Amino acid sequence: MALYSEKVMDHFRNPRNVGVIEDADGVGEVGNAKCGDIMKMYLKIDNDVITDVKFETFGCGSAIASSSMATELIKGKPVSEAMTLTNKAVAEALDGLPDYKMHCSVLAEEAIRSALNDYERKKSGEDFPEVKQDDEDEHFHCCCATDTAGE
Ligand code: FES
Repeated sequence: MALYSEKVMDHFRNPRNVGVIEDADGVGEVGNAKCGDIMKMYLKIDNDVITDVKFETFGCGSAIASSSMATELIKGKPVSEAMTLTNKAVAEALDGLPDYKMHCSVLAEEAIRSALNDYERKKSGEDFPEVKQDDEDEHFHCCCATDTAGE
């Protein structure tokens, strides 16, 4: 069986919604300190509905595929629904990720949560808790050196 699903390879090779939204209503950036991968998410929100989303990911193939799929999953959705998106839902939508690459999908969940918090913060002026980073995850094993999504 192939290591990566067809969907992972498709979203890795042809990522959707790559780019920057200059006048974004919410921007979130998260990174994994151990592998050094960084994900930045931009949201355009109208009436609490996500009308546009773009991302920039500097990272492994699974992180790129996860960001691409995550943007597809939240586009056109209300903020309240996007807030509940989990990395497991992103991985499932990609028809699965290898266990040792699941943490890459966590970056997508955290980047979206961070951008939504930024939006809520701007809207209400209130302070929201910082997004938890997974660099303290004791189960984390960096695999950048062996990650070859194209193989
Ligand atoms: Fe760092 Fe995938 S996000 S190896």
